[in-house]
Amino acid sequence: MRMILVGAPGAGKGTQAKRLAAHYGIPHISTGDMLRAAVAAGTELGKKADAYMRAGDLVPDDLVIAMVIERLGQPDCAKGFILDGFPRTRPQAEALDRALAEAKIPLDAVVLIDVPDEAILDRITGRRSDPETGTIYHVRFNPPPPEIADRVVQRKDDTAEAVRARIAKYHAETEPVLPFYEDKGLLIRVDGLAHPDEVFAAITGALDAARKG
Ligand code: AP5
Repeated sequence: MRMILVGAPGAGKGTQAKRLAAHYGIPHISTGDMLRAAVAAGTELGKKADAYMRAGDLVPDDLVIAMVIERLGQPDCAKGFILDGFPRTRPQAEALDRALAEAKIPLDAVVLIDVPDEAILDRITGRRSDPETGTIYHVRFNPPPPEIADRVVQRKDDTAEAVRARIAKYHAETEPVLPFYEDKGLLIRVDGLAHPDEVFAAITGALDAARKG
């Protein structure tokens, strides 16, 4: 299974990608997680990316494309992968298309998790994650268990101001990429407002149907 998960900030891409990676036994490649790891490690890439991320801006295409193409070349991607948060711009989509065509690796699906803007702020400002396991929680919808409540953290870009900038970037840069995949017959839309279990069932059901079809 080779798939892309796309959706607005807070749509539930990370939540679903972790479950899908376990279900299909393939790696979850999150550009947001990779960039946050680079920032935390103080690498050259991390130093360049930090200010863009804090402001809710996109990191420049050339940096992100190089990072993803290198990651897709690693052996664990041979059986498949889930891309979460990439591509986010037309140049990123075209670069990915070229790289996959050169490697003769076809994409199976692009899943759009659809959530209206009104739901996003609440989801993102309530998000917490466990730095030890990477598990994503929400203070109301999915609270962390009491034994780890002291160690969960909030992301630096989960402020109301940065979220507004991220939503605007999504509409301006990422939504226009969707027709690129719709024209190839790869786009699957699922309702991201449902319970996470229902969203997961909708995605796996659509992917299984697409593979049979
Ligand atoms: P990234 O980390 O990709 O952030 P994002 O796209 O803004 O998405 P999020 O991680 O905020 O949300 P999500 O959809 O994963 O939702 P989650 O499952 O956590 O990118 C961060 C930054 O990195 C970007 O702004 C940019 O600067 C840079 N970057 C990354 N990729 C780039 C690229 N390709 N090009 C350039 N720059 C790039 O869920 C959110 C919350 O909702 C959680 O609390 C969760 O528990 C809850 N929740 C999830 N599902 C449900 C549900 N069904 N019902 C109720 N609550 C739910």
